[in-house]
Amino acid sequence: MQIVKSIPGLRRAIRKARRGGRTIGFVPTMGALHEGHLSLIRKARQETDRVVVSIFVNPIQFDRRSDFQSYPRLLSRDAKMAAKAGAHLVFVPSARDMVPSDFQTSVEVGGLSRRWEGRFRPGHFRGVATIVTKLFHLVEPDVAYFGQKDAQQARVVQQLTQDLNFNLRLKVLPTVREPGGLAMSSRNRLLSSRARRSSRVLFRALQEGQRLIEWGERRGSVVVRRMRQIIRRERGVRIDYLAIVDPRTLEPIEKLRGEIEILLAVWVGEVRLIDNIQCCVPS
Ligand code: PAJ
Repeated sequence: MQIVKSIPGLRRAIRKARRGGRTIGFVPTMGALHEGHLSLIRKARQETDRVVVSIFVNPIQFDRRSDFQSYPRLLSRDAKMAAKAGAHLVFVPSARDMVPSDFQTSVEVGGLSRRWEGRFRPGHFRGVATIVTKLFHLVEPDVAYFGQKDAQQARVVQQLTQDLNFNLRLKVLPTVREPGGLAMSSRNRLLSSRARRSSRVLFRALQEGQRLIEWGERRGSVVVRRMRQIIRRERGVRIDYLAIVDPRTLEPIEKLRGEIEILLAVWVGEVRLIDNIQCCVPS
């Protein structure tokens, strides 16, 4: 497996990878890889000829400096894990190359970016959309792989792919969870053992929401209220948002019907976690 650090080096490697009409699968990440990332890399390996993984802790998508600084950086471990999962190339650009000091262009996906995560993390999706656009231009993938774990991000990237006519297919793969149900995330490393136990409440609440719907509840507000109750009972946990939305528009819905998504963001101590589930509500 090749590790490439410069933009010209990446361009050369991509030209070579494409020879003979080979296809490219791309998995953008911020590193501190875990099974969630590896599931994307493995899928890319199954479906495309050459797998490119980027590892870049993108400074312009962090709304808090402390979050950026404490974000885990584990490059040599990550490179080994990526290679084992099937990556052919890992791109690890520097912040200086990706967002030089005179950088002034940004990509903003309108309405979708302003809701939920966007409300609580101003500028976050502008940073994501801008860096993903750059990465798509540099890698020119045939297929790009994202996780359902970050449902709103996947939706924003899907919109920008459509709006900017990127010639690629986007695949969104299911959330990989730890045995207790906690969605895998690089930030889970920052949880104390007590916070780790508390954080299981996210999945418990999502499951309870799903159960209520399966039992016939069709009022969004009733499901949300019950889920909030469950989360509030857990000590040291605070909700940023919890909502049932249309997966396409991300608008909240009260009358539950068809495809829905339950989104939540919760602080567990000093760590902010997000999670979601999708369900199909029979009419
Ligand atoms: P990062 O948080 O490293 O995630 C990289 C990809 O892995 C994203 O598509 C994310 O949804 C997916 N992922 C994370 N946890 C997952 C899990 N438990 N199960 C399945 N997939 C999971 O998301 C980013 O980085 C950045 O915003 C990025 C897109 C790289 C732009 O900087």
